[in-house]
Amino acid sequence: MRTIVADHPLVAHKLAVLRDESTPSPTFRHLVDELVTLLAYEATREVRVEAREIRTPVAVTQGVYIADPPPLIVPILRAGLGMLDGMTRMVPKAEVGFLGMVRNEETLEATTYANRLPDDLTGRQCFLVDPMLATGGTLVAAIDYLLDLGARDVTAVCLLAAPEGLAAVEAAVGHRAEVTVVVAAVDERLDERGYIVPGLGDAGDRLYG
Ligand code: PRP
Repeated sequence: MRTIVADHPLVAHKLAVLRDESTPSPTFRHLVDELVTLLAYEATREVRVEAREIRTPVAVTQGVYIADPPPLIVPILRAGLGMLDGMTRMVPKAEVGFLGMVRNEETLEATTYANRLPDDLTGRQCFLVDPMLATGGTLVAAIDYLLDLGARDVTAVCLLAAPEGLAAVEAAVGHRAEVTVVVAAVDERLDERGYIVPGLGDAGDRLYG
């Protein structure tokens, strides 16, 4: 499994404002949207492309286009929805599937309440989007869904990850497929409630109340 930390002052600045507890919801949503476009730039570095002939006003040349079948973007509801527009803006050709998952705040176990994915993901590059990778239980379950449908190339785009969560994802699915995690930052640890420290709180609540 590869972990890519988007090391850039613009990312760091936007993340600092997101972390600030006094940042109101409208600003938080706007910053998440902006941050995703920067993370998408890293996450799509190896998106499959094909060359096609194009005619410029001056000459005929080869242009590079995103290849078929198009990538699949899968936001993990609810917080992942806040990252969807930014991803589709950067990859308008992508198709979109949905996974609704919620973590039990007592047991920290993830359960699935909605699942709308194509039947066959063989040969598809998949991009899971979810702001927080805490214990990793949610992401492991989500990657499992995609692998069971035939996907073998999965990139997770997250804002923050805990080291414990990254280790859990690597142990559970890292050997089963090409798995990449792109994050704005890897934080220190999880607290006893399973929150990322220092983190930014509950991303779903800060996005949607
Ligand atoms: C949060 C977050 C991830 C998950 C991470 O969602 O958006 O999906 O928890 O936790 P884990 O790595 O320990 O599994 P939450 O369950 O709060 O649902 P929400 O997006 O609807 O707020």
